[in-house]
Amino acid sequence: MKEWAKETPIIITEGCGSFLKDISGRWYLDGVASIWVTVHGHRKKEIDNAIKSQIDKISHSTLLGLTHPPAIKLAEKLVQVVNSSLVTRHSSLSKVFYSDNGSTAVEIGLKVAFQYWQHKGIKRKKRFLSLNNAYHGDTIGAVSVGGIDIFHNIFSPLLFKSYKAPSPYCYRCEFAKKFPSCKLFCLKKMEQVMQKHHQEIAGLIIEPIMQGAGGMIVSPPGYLKGVRKLCDKYNILMIADEVATGFGRTGKMFACEHEKVSPDILCLAKGITGGYLPLAATITTEKIYNAFLGEFKDLKTFFHGHTYTGNQIACAAAVANLEIFKKEKTLKTMQKKIEILKKGLFKITELPHVGDVRQKGFMVGIELVKDKKTKEPYPTGEKIGWKVCYKARKKGLIIRPLGNVIVLMPPLSISHQELKGLIQITAEAIKEVTEKMDRG
Ligand SMILES: Cc1ncc(COP(=O)(O)O)c(C=O)c1O
Repeated sequence: MKEWAKETPIIITEGCGSFLKDISGRWYLDGVASIWVTVHGHRKKEIDNAIKSQIDKISHSTLLGLTHPPAIKLAEKLVQVVNSSLVTRHSSLSKVFYSDNGSTAVEIGLKVAFQYWQHKGIKRKKRFLSLNNAYHGDTIGAVSVGGIDIFHNIFSPLLFKSYKAPSPYCYRCEFAKKFPSCKLFCLKKMEQVMQKHHQEIAGLIIEPIMQGAGGMIVSPPGYLKGVRKLCDKYNILMIADEVATGFGRTGKMFACEHEKVSPDILCLAKGITGGYLPLAATITTEKIYNAFLGEFKDLKTFFHGHTYTGNQIACAAAVANLEIFKKEKTLKTMQKKIEILKKGLFKITELPHVGDVRQKGFMVGIELVKDKKTKEPYPTGEKIGWKVCYKARKKGLIIRPLGNVIVLMPPLSISHQELKGLIQITAEAIKEVTEKMDRG
């Protein structure tokens, strides 16, 4: 805070498409989609109109004991889009529970999984298994299943205990040398934890395909499918946290689709409203839902409800967001852009201080290293990520680092030309900052 307070803050007053305008009239390319949320661009006409027309009817009424048309319509659409994307297994993902941000979607996923086993009479299942480098939000439950030391360690006295499995961070997977691959090593270690503790484990929570805030870590092909198989084998519910990866981010509607995996519980937020308003949904299978059915006196109720849960305007925006996906064939048109991004990133890979470039669709992490050969990281105090992003900002691009990893995460609607600009400025910023640091 001390250092940040010395900087002049950028005050954003307007947006349009892929761009943000500050109070002094300067425009910036929004290279992180306003923290991974903007889908079809800022001030998208259809979403603006949906919100305006909803306001003319009503802005909010509670979902506790009541419901409303936008929530009903959105739940129908979500179930439809989820089930057309994910290969459903024994029981379809058909029950939608609303809340208002990614962390709450995760808290709900964890609590539902826990309570499910309580209702089933398997009372010992009250722990969770999660991954190192995981990020599931900033509330206490979500932090308890998190795995990023720099964010989470200080809170450890407040957290509940959870079991940990290795992160499939192939670039830095030292142990994989003893195994044929990083994937096999990670799955083997996960299985060892499950073998020992499965009777206590209610659920496994995972960011499918891409661990986001942990450093944009892409899992090796087949890993997610392997995790699903292990959950089945050891009778553990699989909770997919698609808060960051959902709604087209990885090039498919949901990341689980890449490996034809379907979770038992799916957490959605961020892009759900196209990046307009806070809203989240935790979707469960019919089988889980049925375990909560009972007489009033049985108190099988899921006692969880936030005041602004399923807000009317947010749901209206989310309905419009999903309709645009269909109308504009967003997922189809972004495939060419993913290729352009890939090509551009190839040039960045060749820069002397770029250790690893990880991409899945429109989620990109560029890991900067002090020494490319030894993979020696830049020390935290050198603030390399921050310096590169600051340089990019001077050139008209807003991006944010995760430690030494530069994150690129543009709106899905970004044009080919804008995408080239994003890559160009990022490359220049990395080059200029690292060369300056080499010179001392
Ligand atoms: C995978 C994942 N889960 C959960 C969250 C928390 O979402 P929110 O910030 O809306 O609480 C995030 C946020 O970045 C995330 O990336």
